[in-house]
Amino acid sequence: MTKKILVLPGDGIGQEIVAEAVKVIKALQADGLALEMEEGLVGGAAYDETGSPLPEETLTKAKAADAILLGAVGGYKWESLDISVRPEKGLLGLRAELDLFANLRPAILYPQLAGASTLKPEVVSGLDIMIVRELTGGIYFGQPRGVRTLDNGERQGYNTLVYKESEVKRIAEVAFDIARKRNSKVCSVDKANVLEVTEMWREVVTECHKDNSDIELSHMYVDNAAMQLVREPKQFDVMVTTNMFGDILSDCAAMLTGSIGMLPSASLNSKGQGMYEPIHGSAPDIAGQNIANPLATILSVAMMLRYSLDESTMAERVEKAVDKVLEQNLRTADIYSDGMKKVSTSEMGDAVVAAL
Ligand code: IPM
Ligand code: MG
Repeated sequence: MTKKILVLPGDGIGQEIVAEAVKVIKALQADGLALEMEEGLVGGAAYDETGSPLPEETLTKAKAADAILLGAVGGYKWESLDISVRPEKGLLGLRAELDLFANLRPAILYPQLAGASTLKPEVVSGLDIMIVRELTGGIYFGQPRGVRTLDNGERQGYNTLVYKESEVKRIAEVAFDIARKRNSKVCSVDKANVLEVTEMWREVVTECHKDNSDIELSHMYVDNAAMQLVREPKQFDVMVTTNMFGDILSDCAAMLTGSIGMLPSASLNSKGQGMYEPIHGSAPDIAGQNIANPLATILSVAMMLRYSLDESTMAERVEKAVDKVLEQNLRTADIYSDGMKKVSTSEMGDAVVAAL
């Protein structure tokens, strides 16, 4: 059966970068990739049109799709809206409704970009880390949450960090499985010295490790992990962590690779359905200028081909094409350095298509 994908450009640079990724998909379709593609609204764009950042129609299409390609959501325009209808809720709603609990965020340094990182080339060259972030639990979704007024009239904000054993177990299993296809090392990141819930996290991961003893397991507190990521990032293979710690550490890891504009991600459920998106945001400050880097989104297409569409050869073609455009010294502004050729968003997309 022909696979179906849903394309959700979202807001800000989401529109521009997804357009380039769609060019790549169309080129592959012309080359025999059997795929049905439809578009939908999410985020601020959806709010403006329908009053909801995740309209029912989008959710229905998303549930019926084999994979979703998402640009980015959010922007200044919607910042003062009530939190329940902010663009981010569209993204979080999709993650929750489709139970996309396993978020894979690879941080790979392209040798051509070693000079684009703010860290010394010898610290980052050859870097290849996979961050496995729990995506549907933890403090992002925990109840109760809100802002209440205390007896003295002062307001108090609160969120709840919760994990069930089963939630920890399933993400730990994903991390062990991925490590097995890589360098067989998992570092579980927690704050077990302070937070009971992550002390339990550590116990469950350790228990899970008994059935995965071929993998080397270590544990690290999140503050130390942040430091180690910039001190000696190559010590890591797979890192597995909670929703919020993973959010923070993946931005940190992104910068090791030169630009957050290079990093794709996959969010998977247990049925093999996936949502694919660059890890960066909607960058409203540069939206509409045709200068954003589309490569993270194009590399997200590669992940989609591999993880949800069973098209690993096509995935490799896309990855090789990205490698080739970097080899041709083409650079968007975020990864530009002296002596390189500066290109726009659309020129970069065209170059990838040509390199396919
Ligand atoms: C990410 C983003 C999102 C998150 C935002 C946009 C809700 O930062 O995917 O990392 O916090 O998960
Ligand atoms: Mg983030």
